[in-house]
Amino acid sequence: MRAYDIIYKKRNGETLSKKEIEFIVFNYNNGAIPDYQAAAFLMAFFLQKSTDEELFDLTKAMINSGDVLDLSSFHFPTADKHSTGGVGDSTSLIAAPVAASCGICVPMMVGRGLGHTGGTLDKLEAIPGFRGQSDKEEFLGYLKYANAAIIGQTAEIAPVDKKIYALRDATATVESAPLICASIMSKKIAEGAQTLVLDVKTGNGAFMKTFSESKELAQKMIAVGKHFKRNVAALITDMNVPLGGCAGNAVEIKQVVEILKGNLKNDLYDLSLELSAQMIFLSKKTPNLNEALKLAEKQISSGAALEKFREIIKMQGGTPKVLDDPDAVLPKAKESAFVKADRSGYISSMDARSAGLAAMLCGAGREKKEDKIDYSAGVIFHKKTGDYVKEGDLLAELLYNSERNISEARGVLENSYIISDEKPARYKLVKEIIA
Ligand code: URA
Repeated sequence: MRAYDIIYKKRNGETLSKKEIEFIVFNYNNGAIPDYQAAAFLMAFFLQKSTDEELFDLTKAMINSGDVLDLSSFHFPTADKHSTGGVGDSTSLIAAPVAASCGICVPMMVGRGLGHTGGTLDKLEAIPGFRGQSDKEEFLGYLKYANAAIIGQTAEIAPVDKKIYALRDATATVESAPLICASIMSKKIAEGAQTLVLDVKTGNGAFMKTFSESKELAQKMIAVGKHFKRNVAALITDMNVPLGGCAGNAVEIKQVVEILKGNLKNDLYDLSLELSAQMIFLSKKTPNLNEALKLAEKQISSGAALEKFREIIKMQGGTPKVLDDPDAVLPKAKESAFVKADRSGYISSMDARSAGLAAMLCGAGREKKEDKIDYSAGVIFHKKTGDYVKEGDLLAELLYNSERNISEARGVLENSYIISDEKPARYKLVKEIIA
């Protein structure tokens, strides 16, 4: 078999066999196929249609590039959630302790932020002492101890995805439903959770901008999940408006703490509850979704989820003081700048991508993978879509330490708000659930 012939076949729109897909993935992983041929293969896959069988085979080959965790010895149902990436999205940090506090084992492997999107691992690392990188053995030890852990991708799980993702990032082949699906599902299936709840974002701040593209991705993820005998549900959720009241690392941790303490109920709280409820229901902890939603609410109002979060943070080396007095331990930016309304009216739309870019320009995110981030930087949204404002009202606040990109960040953020006379229709946060 030759890589050239397989690329040629896919480029011409033909269907690849399992052996051909395995050949490419296996040999790219071990270095026998060079980047230029793997890039051509990915572009062919990006441009041509692929069958469900090809998608299952690609996912399987990526799973087999590393270890598959066996969590069957845990006497808990196992569940995880994953989002396709957004702005202000700290739902994982709420859903993980909520589900774990209900007696579900949550083996959560999370990523870092890139471009306008935030990453759960970066947010956790804003907590002094927190260790987000573990190997497989330590991860399993954490799960035994607290029936939950939140760590970065280990080198043992679907290692080929890391190589493929870096190549896609450099060759404009990221926004492809089958490639995103295989990338996410290979990692999630290898991680061993029986239940997977997928938050597929749609809108200007998402990889998939239109509802139909997002739905196609959600359907593919469900098909792959079912093929690998997982309990799966996908929620297609809005990412035109950033979630919650801020985007950044320390600021989002502080917001998570407020939500887990029951002090804050915003759209981030609502979506976190919906996702937690799916994890609880699919893990058969309740007879229906409604009961699961009530249980998720109770885990927050009773403080059980907060205590589970404390256990996870402490176990992974973070200071638990972050839960009692976040301002005392989280890094704080020295400077702030303000974006104000230039007219009175309703905020008819926001651009989540621009809002995320503004946070990145403040220092909260990375333009390139190697960039260092400033945990204290970010943006606070004082007003969001649907709010009425008077001329001169504060819309958002930029938090930063370095002036370098601040005028650009301010411009991007100013342009992300559209104010008009008409009150916009209420947007739906969860647009569709596919199971
Ligand atoms: N997240 C991933 O892990 N992979 C993708 O391809 C896109 C988002």
